[in-house]
Amino acid sequence: MVFKIQSTDKKSKARTGTIQTDHGEIKTPIFMPVGTAGTVKSIHQRELESDINAQIILGNTYHLYLRPGLDVLSQAGGIHKFNGWNRPILTDSGGYQVYSLSGTRKIKEEGVTFASHIDGSKHTFTPENVMDIQRTIGADIIMAFDECTPYPCEYKYARKSMEMTHRWLKRCCDRFDSTEPKYGYGQTLFPIVQGSCFKDLRLASAEKIASFNREGNAIGGLSVGEPAEIMYEMTEIVCSVLPWEKPRYLMGVGTPANLLESIALGIDMFDCVMPTRNARNGMIFTTEGIINIKNEKWKSDFSEIDPGLPSFLKNYYSKAYLRHLVASKEILGAQIATLQNLTFYLWLMNEARTKIEEGTFSEWKDLTVKKIMTRL
Ligand code: GUN
Repeated sequence: MVFKIQSTDKKSKARTGTIQTDHGEIKTPIFMPVGTAGTVKSIHQRELESDINAQIILGNTYHLYLRPGLDVLSQAGGIHKFNGWNRPILTDSGGYQVYSLSGTRKIKEEGVTFASHIDGSKHTFTPENVMDIQRTIGADIIMAFDECTPYPCEYKYARKSMEMTHRWLKRCCDRFDSTEPKYGYGQTLFPIVQGSCFKDLRLASAEKIASFNREGNAIGGLSVGEPAEIMYEMTEIVCSVLPWEKPRYLMGVGTPANLLESIALGIDMFDCVMPTRNARNGMIFTTEGIINIKNEKWKSDFSEIDPGLPSFLKNYYSKAYLRHLVASKEILGAQIATLQNLTFYLWLMNEARTKIEEGTFSEWKDLTVKKIMTRL
């Protein structure tokens, strides 16, 4: 993997760049649609590639390990061959889902024992087997096994947990560096900064994570219920320590405004279920603001879903039609809403890149945040 910074904004820490992987190039800043179980819910790979032009998608170790399982994935020749997505893929380590999804779980120094949310069966994730599992899944970028602390979190717990995440990282690196990719293309490991909402812990964690000198770094444990201002404060502190010349990935973030504000702090990569999950509940992001498409207000509004967005959707569908589909729980409703939201998120990243390159990012950001976060 090679990261190259292309332009930097003079008034903020925003930058544009490229990440080169064996499955192609990613232009940063980038939003990665979430494809937890090897599918971005409700849309085709063809739509993701041709209509949305997603450059990289996310998969999840916890889900893929439980279903379809490693036998199937390795017989297929890895996740790209299995799901037909030939561009880059990043897998999260399960260091988040294991805490949020599995009912019973026990965290120990060795690893985490948990019960599957599917059938209750018992499993253990350790830093070592999570590296092996991600080798077998075959993503281009894989994540270290960590503990994502909840919010709020007591200082003492946050410190102990962060220290364990650091010890786990050493074990992840040792295992990753002593094993080979299985499918003939390169893989890279990103460590994750933790430290909850405590400045001194965030500083210490960022310093520790940077000392591992991996090809990119991630920030976890944010967007877990804390106020946005605290999230930005933590992100800023961490970005001041993480090396400038390596990509920075802010995990699980966020709203369109969160993305633009975090780009200004020096973040290059994002993922979040918001555009896809909320689409299925009728929350539509547009260049003019946010629409709750279930609202009566749209019942007879035959205007295009988003006049400001270059998308094939405008040739076919109106707000009133989308409202009808979502209200009737039609499958096509989820599909159109997801296409709209992801097209919007990726358009936003594209605009941000252009504005950084043109030197007008900061002014554009302030105006755009107001507009796109308006409730219509
Ligand atoms: N996704 C969102 N936050 C986190 C985090 O802290 N750790 C991991 N592994 N994934 C995340």
